[in-house]
Amino acid sequence: MTKAKYTVTAALPYANGPLHLGHVAGVYLPADIFVRFLRMNDHDVAFICGSDEHGAAITLRAKKEGITPKEIVDKYNSIISKAFTDFDISFDIFHRTSSEIHHKTSQDFFLKLYEKGKFTEETSEQYYDEEYDQFLADRYITGECPKCQNPSAYGDQCEKCGSDLSPTELINPTSTLSGKAPVLRTTSHWYLPMANHEDWLREWIKEGKLDGIQQHDPKPWRNQVIGQCMSWIDGGLHSRAMTRDLDWGVKVPLPNAEGKVLYVWLDAPIGYISATKQYAIDNNKNWEDYWTGDRKLIHFIGKDNIVFHAVIFPILLKDHGDLILPDNVPAYEFLNLEGDKFSTSRNWAVWLHEYLEAYPGREDELKYVLTSIAPETKDSEFTWKEYQTRINSELADILGNFVNRALVLTQKYYEGKVPERGELTEEDQLVLAEINEIPKRISKLVYAYKLRDAQAEAMNLARLGNKYLADQEPWKVVKIDPKRVETVMNIALQITANLSIVLQPFLPATASKLSNFLNFKSTNWENAGNGDLMKVGNQTNTPEILFQKIEDTIVEAEVNKLKNIEAMESIFDAQKEEVTFDDFTKMDIRLGTILEAEKVEKADKLLKLLVDTGLDKRTIVSGIAAHYSPEEIIGKTVQVLMNLAPRKIKGIESKGMILMAEDAEGKLSFMSPEKEFEAGCGIH
Ligand code: MF3
Ligand code: ZN
Repeated sequence: MTKAKYTVTAALPYANGPLHLGHVAGVYLPADIFVRFLRMNDHDVAFICGSDEHGAAITLRAKKEGITPKEIVDKYNSIISKAFTDFDISFDIFHRTSSEIHHKTSQDFFLKLYEKGKFTEETSEQYYDEEYDQFLADRYITGECPKCQNPSAYGDQCEKCGSDLSPTELINPTSTLSGKAPVLRTTSHWYLPMANHEDWLREWIKEGKLDGIQQHDPKPWRNQVIGQCMSWIDGGLHSRAMTRDLDWGVKVPLPNAEGKVLYVWLDAPIGYISATKQYAIDNNKNWEDYWTGDRKLIHFIGKDNIVFHAVIFPILLKDHGDLILPDNVPAYEFLNLEGDKFSTSRNWAVWLHEYLEAYPGREDELKYVLTSIAPETKDSEFTWKEYQTRINSELADILGNFVNRALVLTQKYYEGKVPERGELTEEDQLVLAEINEIPKRISKLVYAYKLRDAQAEAMNLARLGNKYLADQEPWKVVKIDPKRVETVMNIALQITANLSIVLQPFLPATASKLSNFLNFKSTNWENAGNGDLMKVGNQTNTPEILFQKIEDTIVEAEVNKLKNIEAMESIFDAQKEEVTFDDFTKMDIRLGTILEAEKVEKADKLLKLLVDTGLDKRTIVSGIAAHYSPEEIIGKTVQVLMNLAPRKIKGIESKGMILMAEDAEGKLSFMSPEKEFEAGCGIH
């Protein structure tokens, strides 16, 4: 039988922020395990990923950080790809959608569909920011949610009630660029009609048949995937614009398409193809081999990506005509963190790159825990306590303990040489039978994308070994029946050798340590299950401790880090709504020196100040009387908001405001310059 060939993709992460453990547990780690397993089983496989560098996700982040989109994608692409390397995710290529080959590939793809008449051109009215002279991507418009009245819903979605929205549904829309109300303007775009695809999609998704021919495995896709697709299709598939008015992205390759780029959800999945092209160039292969013919295309994704990979991209691929459609779309639910959703804006996250920096050498520990709790069928949760428990009582106490005993006793009794096996007891035979069965069970589970159970099954082999040694007690028997102990230790070493194979997909670094201890290495899955891998007389080495236990202090420190985030949120107000750089520069803030100060009659909170602002000497009324006496503040240099509209307070015209810091109890403090700066200096 020839082995199935695979092209495996992992969702291209947006290059607008670092990766957190949720991303890892629900996309990259399962994809990596799957691919490592396929390689060991001699499948021809390409493992494809890269950064997704277009769309409003990127331009918004750029605006927030005050740098260009190009700087943003360069920055995060390097943080992300370094984290993947350090975590040993074994992509064949990690590419970028900002690359030239990607722009060309997605333009060609677009043109091919365009020439085949697969798009319709439609005009519509869309929001436009007159001050910034540009159309507004959905994410650039905020307003009141028509369903739950959340005042800061986005043009595509309300994060409070979860409704999908379109910008024109928002009540009182505002542009996040200018802060003004946008106007509607006519624009034209190329749309992908999807309604006429409903029938084949239903059959294909549910039964895996395309035009009556079995395409993907008859075994059904994950329930959540089928469910989400069906409810989307049942709601009616509307035409979707495949282009956008934006200046960041892949330019629409048509005349009269000035200022238009491809929709990011059109260009990003084509990123899988362009990355494959680059991989093929780098390795002297044909990229078409990975996208045509008898080959399984597998997309590992998070659940928020389902319709894009299981409905829209398949329509595009089918319209294109020359390329294969996905064989499966294993989608993961979400991972939560210590009782709450991962949130980049709140910093409620464990960042992969930070973990790797803090705990070098503990990559496999994290892999093990994340696979154990992977959100395969429902949302799941990461806690540091469970991280500790799983490492200490599973990895260290079971796997580590077993391996250590097997190798240390071999050193002690036989100077490290594999002893000979004598007559087998019934227990020995049962253990050998299990050694044979476990890899088969793992294999079935991996092919069915049940990686959590598959890893548990691999751990069962360590459990079996641990129990076997505990039951046989070679350290006691050696005194009365040393011949028997040779058999026991031989079998214990066979278990260890099998572990060095079956753990490879899940815990590659640990598996290779085992190989070094044993002087035995096999990357061929077919060898797993064999009870005679370690040959009599072969030399093994003194082992090192495989897993250090996680101290309580680590758990406490990590939990405290998160608790601090919560505590800060409850003491201080949450961060306010985003402002633009322009909003900020509208405020004229300078240093001013207080020349005179006196109490305001019949107002015990107020002081009337005369302030030298460098420009002028002006009167400002300030509510600081409870915190400062007039005498102590004369001569102080403080921050002044100059261009606040003048106000009459207790009959006195106040021109501007003194900026103060306020603590949780309402105590006020001036913010005076740290160096001796004179009145009039600007603050930016
Ligand atoms: N960047 C998207 C996300 O993080 C995923 C894109 S997957 C691709 O949700 F197929 F479009 F590339
Ligand atoms: Zn809402």
